[in-house]
Amino acid sequence: MSRTPISLPQQRSFGQTMRKGAWWLPSLLTFLGLMAFIVYSTWAAFQGVNYAFGPYLSPMYSPLLWEGAGQLVPTGHAWFGAWPEFLKIGLPLTPAFLILWAPGGFRFTCYYYRGAYYKAFWADPISCAVGEPRKSYWGERTFPLIIQNIHRYFLYLAVIFIFLLAFDAWTAMWFPPEGVTYAAAHEAGQLKFGFGIGTLVLIINPILLGGYTFGCHSLRHLIGGRKDRVTTAPMGKKAYDCVSCLNRKHMLFAWMSLFWVGFTDFYVRMCAMGTWHDLRLF
Ligand code: FES
Repeated sequence: MSRTPISLPQQRSFGQTMRKGAWWLPSLLTFLGLMAFIVYSTWAAFQGVNYAFGPYLSPMYSPLLWEGAGQLVPTGHAWFGAWPEFLKIGLPLTPAFLILWAPGGFRFTCYYYRGAYYKAFWADPISCAVGEPRKSYWGERTFPLIIQNIHRYFLYLAVIFIFLLAFDAWTAMWFPPEGVTYAAAHEAGQLKFGFGIGTLVLIINPILLGGYTFGCHSLRHLIGGRKDRVTTAPMGKKAYDCVSCLNRKHMLFAWMSLFWVGFTDFYVRMCAMGTWHDLRLF
């Protein structure tokens, strides 16, 4: 039998492709979306003030371990009171920096985001069937990208944050009487049940974050993916199906929750600065 030699496709130069259409558009949108969030969240984290308004606490400052050094009036949300002496080390530290590394690390190492920002930020690979900038393959099995495997451990922290943010949503339903600060009413046990637009904003936040976190690929593996047969444990099968269902919408939840975290901080900040007026529904 005669054999016909087949030549391998020629290596493309960077950006060269036979693809038609705007293959670069998803990456451009990813770049713009992530950049907008990075710029805003970095700015917000450096502020150290206006992170709370009455019963509302920004998710970028939650849990609030200590009040920000520049926060002159207590907000009533801090676990341990005023900014401690041992953290006055001459750096522009704020309460946000003490906690943001955990949800930030979880998101940065997320399997979906990795695929997205590898393309959008350093174009390696830039897209399917498009010439790459490097000829060698830099996988995630060697340093530094092997560190991305830490994602499965960040998952445990991220789950704790969902409960903390759900508690913030509950807290956002308890308002001080007219003319009394939240901190004073909280201290005196005078908070009354109510519901404002901010309450709704803070309730949606853990729901979207939960949709994102509980659809995590690592959680899916943990809950059933590592087993040969998930059907042997009925409860395990149900949990696996739930995670799989959220997992199919992981990209959608990733973007919606990212946007909503930023918006929730913005909403609380605008109210705290007196720029927006929070509408009390009851
Ligand atoms: Fe995206 Fe785990 S894979 S959060």
